[in-house]
Amino acid sequence: HSPLIVTIDGPAGVGKSTVAKRLARALSIPYLDTGAMFRAIARRLGQGAWERGEAELASVLAGMVFSLSGIGEDSVLTLDGAPIGDEVRTEQVGMWASNIATLPVVRASLKTAQQALGERFSLVAEGRDMGTVVFPAAHRKFFLDATPDERARRRFRQLTDMGQPADLDELRDQIARRDHQDRNRAEAPLRPAPDAVIVDTTSLTIDEAFAALVRGVRA
Ligand code: C5P
Repeated sequence: HSPLIVTIDGPAGVGKSTVAKRLARALSIPYLDTGAMFRAIARRLGQGAWERGEAELASVLAGMVFSLSGIGEDSVLTLDGAPIGDEVRTEQVGMWASNIATLPVVRASLKTAQQALGERFSLVAEGRDMGTVVFPAAHRKFFLDATPDERARRRFRQLTDMGQPADLDELRDQIARRDHQDRNRAEAPLRPAPDAVIVDTTSLTIDEAFAALVRGVRA
């Protein structure tokens, strides 16, 4: 029978990755971090890639191969055989990712890659357009939200936990700019699917947010 697909969408810093990995672990299935795919491509292409011609980008993208293995937090996503790691988790790469994510040629190429993974594996798929565009027939869809202040604090903790320098005010600005771009782009803008369960995590602990998702999957 067909793979189980659970989608988790939402804005930057909302804590999607943490609960998505836990949910994937609880379901014994892989976790797909689609933001990491945009980030890895953005980092590979470098600054200003979004100003390159469509044809050039299309040919570069056509040569990139993603693969996925493992379950839950042990899921490993690779680009051309190399695991995508913490090197893509800076806000600068996040902004580059958001910039290239406005380009139809990039979205089309990643949508194909994401859907191919969803045909091979059951997935907890996390991103911006998982429930709306990539997996419209998903078994269960979630949209996580939280206030901008809380999301900036969460991103701050995430970066400092990785040993990266972070400035809370600067993060708040960067996240606001990235969200604005993600919500207002023409193609696959960030928004809840009509059939998504919306979870406001502002005042929830990780355990509580995770419990809300488990309830939602079982419902
Ligand atoms: O989730 P993360 O912050 O890693 O995503 C980085 C950027 O990639 C987002 O700001 C967004 O512009 C883009 N993205 C997207 N669609 C997805 C996942 C990420 O456009 N499904």
